[in-house]
Amino acid sequence: MNIAVAGTGYVGLVTGVCLAEKGHQVTCVDVDEAKVAKMQAGRSPIYEPGLEELMRANAARLAFTTDWAAAYKDAQVIFIGVGTPEKKDGSANLKYVYNVARQIADSVRSECVVVVKSTVPIGTNDKVEKFLRERARGVRLHVASNPEFLAQGTAVRDTLQPSRIVLGVEDAFSEQALRAVYEGFDAPVLVMNRRSAEMVKYASNDFLALKISYVNEIANLCESVGADIEDVTAGMGYDGRIGSRFLRAGIGYGGSCFPKDTKALSWLANFNDTEIKTVRAAIEVNENQKLKLLKKAKKYFPDGFDGVKVAMLGLTFKPGTDDLREAASLVNAAILLEDGARLQAWDPVGTENYKRFYPDQITYCDTIQQAITGADVCFIFTEWEEICRLSPKVYRQLMNKPIVLDGRNCYSLPACEEAGITYISVGRRPVEAGQ
Ligand SMILES: NC(=O)c1ccc[n+]([C@@H]2O[C@H](COP(=O)([O-])OP(=O)(O)OC[C@H]3O[C@@H](n4cnc5c(N)ncnc54)[C@H](O)[C@@H]3O)[C@@H](O)[C@H]2O)c1
Repeated sequence: MNIAVAGTGYVGLVTGVCLAEKGHQVTCVDVDEAKVAKMQAGRSPIYEPGLEELMRANAARLAFTTDWAAAYKDAQVIFIGVGTPEKKDGSANLKYVYNVARQIADSVRSECVVVVKSTVPIGTNDKVEKFLRERARGVRLHVASNPEFLAQGTAVRDTLQPSRIVLGVEDAFSEQALRAVYEGFDAPVLVMNRRSAEMVKYASNDFLALKISYVNEIANLCESVGADIEDVTAGMGYDGRIGSRFLRAGIGYGGSCFPKDTKALSWLANFNDTEIKTVRAAIEVNENQKLKLLKKAKKYFPDGFDGVKVAMLGLTFKPGTDDLREAASLVNAAILLEDGARLQAWDPVGTENYKRFYPDQITYCDTIQQAITGADVCFIFTEWEEICRLSPKVYRQLMNKPIVLDGRNCYSLPACEEAGITYISVGRRPVEAGQ
């Protein structure tokens, strides 16, 4: 099929490349000229394992352009995968979706299906369809919802082997077109109306956010009552009704989806004169959780961080991505810098993006060892494999004071005791050096 994809971010580009892998002819459109130039040169503008290789392997079926009119005019299916960031009031900003809708309406020449893949509030597809039909006179346009469930870091695998394909359609033409798009995929296909499809996405994401906030609250309680969250979650995870995934305590969720999608659903509930208290609670718990390590560090630095050499390990919101949106490291770095700390940071892929926030105020290191050398304290914000593989003894050897505050529970407590470091993690007893 002749497919166009609007937006070449984590969702759009991965979708486009994976659809080409399945044999479709795909044109990926973006308004960012630098991004498009990079993709035309065979390079991915985002870090996503396996993506660049797949881009190159399918180069014959892939085109990248800023020329949206040419891309949309004869496409059979157009996916919208642009961002829907949070507005100040928590609602989703749909300006990018409508920009694309306007461009589609002004350029299509034949009947086609516009598929909204971006996460949008319930009812948006209906409005986009009305907008398109009013503006694109003389051409029959259909709108379908096809929410995306990929996770950054495993986006290619998630897209090629999806857990499910949700199709929100209101007419047979859209259903047929989407079934043809996904013919080569081996996954359950769930067909429903558009509003239900839109809701599946929010309900799924917010459920995962709830799960994380719940386990983080249990972890905080473990600290108060002398239980160990790792043992507790291992015990819980064996229950098939609960499952072991998304049951890891830590410094809170971040990223481009959970924070905004929880707020958007909460806003939507309010707007519809109803309440979604569980989601509101998850948001509040998460905000507090992001600052937990800093609060714990006060015990060791009662006079603040002025002049303190602080190592930060892991900058991205999770391993496997270069995405910094809502990363715990950002809110902590801001406070530490304001307090006068001297920061030296390490991240395997997130450094370039971090420099956009802090070009000069932070020393960026090529290795973990460099980042922790001479440090008075170390914060771990992301559980990159390289960090987890490091022996806790290295902290004692290289740091000025071996105080490690770990927001991701990367190490076992006995290993830290044996290494002789002070090790403060989440939901577990503290390990104090020299005790
Ligand atoms: N990132 C994820 O893990 C994920 C997972 C599932 C769903 N989603 C949802 O998918 C949507 C996209 O998320 P993302 O993380 O890929 O966004 P992103 O910010 O990484 O990418 C969006 C891209 O759209 C481009 N763009 C903006 N206006 C455009 C236009 N008029 N035409 C063409 N391109 C345009 C931007 O330049 C940018 O490259 C959001 O609604 C998000 O909630 C994201």
